[in-house]
Amino acid sequence: MSDALVIFTPSGKRGRFALGTPVLTAARKLGVDLDSVCGGRGICSKCQITPGYGDFPKHGVNVAADALSAWNAVEQRYKDKRGLIDGRRLGCQAQIMGDVVIDVPAESQLHKQVVRKDASARPMVMDPATRLFFVEVAQPDMHEPSGDLERLGAALRTQWDVAEISMGLDVLRKLQPTLRAGNWQVTVALFADHSGGPAQVLDIWPGLYDGALYGLAIDLGSTTIAAHLCDLRDGQVVASSGIMNPQIRFGEDLMSRVSYAMMNPGGDAEMTRAVRDSLDTLIAALASDAGCNARQIMEVVIVCNPVMHHLLLGVDPVELGQAPFALATSGALSLGARDLDLTALNPAARAYLLPCIAGHVGADAAAVALSEAPEQSDDLVLIVDVGTNAEILLGDTRRVLACSSPTGPAFEGAQISSGQRAAPGAIERIEIDPFTKEPRFRVIGSDLWSDDPEFAANVTGICGSGIIEAVAEMRMAGLVDASGLIGSSAQTGTERCVPEGRTHAYVIHDATATGGPRITVTQGDIRAIQLAKSALYAGARLLMDEIGTDTVDRIVLAGAFGAHISPKHAMVLGMIPDAPLDRVTSAGNAAGTGARMALCSKSERAAIERTVTRIHKVETAIEPRFQEHFVAANALPHATAPFPHLSQVVTLPQVSFNSGGSEGRRRKRG
Ligand code: FES
Repeated sequence: MSDALVIFTPSGKRGRFALGTPVLTAARKLGVDLDSVCGGRGICSKCQITPGYGDFPKHGVNVAADALSAWNAVEQRYKDKRGLIDGRRLGCQAQIMGDVVIDVPAESQLHKQVVRKDASARPMVMDPATRLFFVEVAQPDMHEPSGDLERLGAALRTQWDVAEISMGLDVLRKLQPTLRAGNWQVTVALFADHSGGPAQVLDIWPGLYDGALYGLAIDLGSTTIAAHLCDLRDGQVVASSGIMNPQIRFGEDLMSRVSYAMMNPGGDAEMTRAVRDSLDTLIAALASDAGCNARQIMEVVIVCNPVMHHLLLGVDPVELGQAPFALATSGALSLGARDLDLTALNPAARAYLLPCIAGHVGADAAAVALSEAPEQSDDLVLIVDVGTNAEILLGDTRRVLACSSPTGPAFEGAQISSGQRAAPGAIERIEIDPFTKEPRFRVIGSDLWSDDPEFAANVTGICGSGIIEAVAEMRMAGLVDASGLIGSSAQTGTERCVPEGRTHAYVIHDATATGGPRITVTQGDIRAIQLAKSALYAGARLLMDEIGTDTVDRIVLAGAFGAHISPKHAMVLGMIPDAPLDRVTSAGNAAGTGARMALCSKSERAAIERTVTRIHKVETAIEPRFQEHFVAANALPHATAPFPHLSQVVTLPQVSFNSGGSEGRRRKRG
């Protein structure tokens, strides 16, 4: 028999190879994704494959029992020491001796797919910038003097095709003892990203190191900082944690932090220090939670808005506070984590900041674009990432636009009279009976509704999603009119509408008799929500104007908070334009997901860097139509725009509390 036919599954790649060719070699020649750290020395087990025997009519081959070389001593040694599933072979040991069908199991694929929780989301494929390589380095020779680093470089070139390496001082100091301890066999962690520069040696171990490498995906928000510690081998999140952004003490929103920097000499440096310190603390806590050695953390990917971006980098954000809102740089940044004073990880660890889209549209919006890929959508999709600032993207395969809108912290429960952060005890869901006007609610930390006899939760306040539901429910129950006014008890027919100064408030929960809190929605709360939702709607509407459309095909609510907003309530308030309710979906923390994708894949980094250059930025702050849209969006749901899809499921009562009279009409519950 001359050459043998080899067919790899699941890729379907096939080719003919001389008898005696190792399966790993055949895989490499065909570009089949088969992992290896040891380079075929039979010690890392990354190259496991499963040969198939018998008839394969689909492939037109019959695989004989001796299609691969016999099980060898290296495989037996590995199996005895570390175990090997029955039927598996080591691809670097098994040689092709006849036509054969070879399956590469998911765990042996370097570019394995990572399942995202949201089934509709596009898959994430592993392509990490940092990988392990085992090498045998030539020993020093007096007759041909060369440095250990140069010989390591030569070994990586001949054994792994790595063209050029660089090494920081910290690793250089370890190089000589490690080479000798490993008897000239070492494993290196090499960072080689999409920019194509020399591969950087991040760490070195004697002999074979096939332990985990970790990376951090950090969503650095104005209010909270969320971080996910991910295994860089398979993309799995091994620990997650979040903390409040310590810069809150310098100002709740971004512009107040820019003002702080402008008014206080050294204020920017103070804020830089605060955020860097808290990131370092968060990283150390995550490593300890996951039980990993912090030295194993090799990379950090950070997404944030432009002001946070500058403050993290130690760049004065003053230019972002005034037109034309110039960024110091809008490009992606690849830095040493030490440059950001991050010390709780590997000393040579790398940090990558996604590109910003514009002066008000940051790397967090870029991360949302990476996660939700509007540029690949056939239908026109509106993506809103709701937080203290809303990031808004609108587009499809033809064009993508982006803007940011200053919604303020009301959607997060701040500046709301009974508002609080989402924490146990906060009301997060509420329903108001349209006939009795009585509320029932659920709080974070309890599965029971408040009208359940077993309900015994300690009610402490109302969180962002709770206040949105409360206002929308009040509108649907005829307690609030289209202008946002709360009616009196006489107008609404419920004693729960109580006077408060010259306006009214609706009492959701009153535990004052037992020393507990009284939780109300006041007129001021409704005004705060109206301002926030008008800003959000006006931003979306501005992008729709730019594209020349009055409707969108679908809406994606992103952000941790977006995950908790009910589409119906968001639409009753007019936070978002009208759309079929079943086409309003939640993407969870899309910015965090985008950060994770960039962490796990250098091709995704290259992709988002290309995509942002094609996103058209719309600046809300200088666009006069923004103000017009903002004013029209003040009504609930809107002064002029029709909401045909919403009216199919909800009939809003025609009430008006301006003149004192009201006639609540019954509504249909959606
Ligand atoms: Fe390492 Fe086969 S490549 S064991």
